[in-house]
Amino acid sequence: MVVIGQESDKSLVAVALVFIKANFVFALFGAVIVRALLKNTYNGHTELDHIALHQKYGPVVRTAPNEVSFASPNAAKDIFAVGKGFHKTWFYSVFPPKHAPDIFTEVREWKHAQMKRFAVTPYSLAQMSKRNPQIEATIMTLMGNLTKYAGGKQNCNLGNLLHYFAFDVLGEVAFSRRFGFLEQEVDVEGSIKNIDDVQWYDGIVGQIPEFDILFRNNPIRPYLPFWKPEPTTMTRIAVEELEKRKQADGTYDSTGIDLLAELLRNHEGNKDKFSINDVFSIAHGAIFAGSDSTASTMQSFFYCVLNNPAVYKKLQKEIDDAQAAGELSEIIQYPEAMKLEWFQACLKEAMRIRPAVGLGIYRVIPPEGAKIDGQFYPGGTEVAVNGWVLHRAKDVFGEDVETYRPERWFEGDAKLMNSHMYQFGGGSHLCIGRNLALFEMNKTLIQILREFDIKLVHPGRPLEYHSTFFVVQEGLEVYLEKRAR
Ligand code: HEM
Repeated sequence: MVVIGQESDKSLVAVALVFIKANFVFALFGAVIVRALLKNTYNGHTELDHIALHQKYGPVVRTAPNEVSFASPNAAKDIFAVGKGFHKTWFYSVFPPKHAPDIFTEVREWKHAQMKRFAVTPYSLAQMSKRNPQIEATIMTLMGNLTKYAGGKQNCNLGNLLHYFAFDVLGEVAFSRRFGFLEQEVDVEGSIKNIDDVQWYDGIVGQIPEFDILFRNNPIRPYLPFWKPEPTTMTRIAVEELEKRKQADGTYDSTGIDLLAELLRNHEGNKDKFSINDVFSIAHGAIFAGSDSTASTMQSFFYCVLNNPAVYKKLQKEIDDAQAAGELSEIIQYPEAMKLEWFQACLKEAMRIRPAVGLGIYRVIPPEGAKIDGQFYPGGTEVAVNGWVLHRAKDVFGEDVETYRPERWFEGDAKLMNSHMYQFGGGSHLCIGRNLALFEMNKTLIQILREFDIKLVHPGRPLEYHSTFFVVQEGLEVYLEKRAR
């Protein structure tokens, strides 16, 4: 396997240049063939393909010459087990920016562990709670947007507003910066579209990362005016934010409570182990990893709840009862939300049936090989598990896995089911942003449900979506009525 990474880029560039010069037509032809082979990711529904493949061929399916996909919950436990030496595949190395891998894209496990150690506290629930005022201000902006649509059967694209909200929260949390998605009610500078395009590329070319050097990271690009690499809007913003904090003496102003400030503080005492490049990449990566994922989960929640009137009715009653009992603040607080058991089951069930990551999560088996679900596989084999498949394990979740049914969380073995939920991944790569995601989603979803009666404009119509890495959704349109308290 050809290895692409920070260290090997130079030699690869030289090899690729010679190769391309001598074999340009051949390289192009090869690229087209590979693209055809990657149709599975290109069609945007890897999650459905994986479900169908496992239904047809069973719990273990060879999806590429050196890649095996697993469906059984036991297999997932083995693959995610901490300390067993499984590490991320080169799939992740394609995600930009190439020169600054973050916690998500770094494929060297030692480096990943080092970065994660310095980021755990800035990402903790305690630190996220300190950013509560900024998050609440963003919630109130969203409520203002929604109020504009209330009454008079105005079509409100709730899905878009939730997407804008997720971005604005990240602007506040990561940089104390107001991105302005909600205020302008637009995709600011096409950022959402931009990230979506980038992820299309990552999802497809990531399947054969060696090809990255022919396309996005082609060494001749900087010399071609029509193909010059341009940073994405969010990358430009992250660079600007770091620059703003640079002081005359070359050090960085690390005061403040946002993620960037806290990472900068961690950098101060640990410059050799936690470089300024690491600080940049982690703050920058937060926007990429945290926006589509959170938006998609909130959209799935509303899609599932609103298409199930009995579930929705019970949810409204739970919230109204809590309100009447004086258990809800003017802006919902996280501990208050955690006490609403039906709401928690509704959210969890949405994350079960439509997890926000639609592609497989890929790992490489360590050199000595490993047993997965009782069977030995040689070292170097690439293995994949897909949340959409794992969350449909009938022996864990019940026979009716295709049905959105929050009741299952009260009837079944909730402990067992919880231990087999992978919406946030697992093991040493468990999502570091889940505290923020759960914090903002719990507060916001209940706030919306308490303040508005919501009806789908097109009940029963499936959301349009495509899975690049995250499941990017479109079409959650609703009518809103302000509720009397
Ligand atoms: C509901 C929202 C979210 C979902 C469903 C989600 C899902 C995931 C999943 C499945 C992974 C594992 C990926 C893998 O192993 O390939 C992951 C990792 C990660 N997520 Fe999230 N995420 C969410 C929100 C966020 C937020 C808000 C942030 C940052 C602000 C974030 C940052 C990250 C990072 C940095 C990683 C890499 C962790 C590692 O490899 O150690 N995520 N996320």
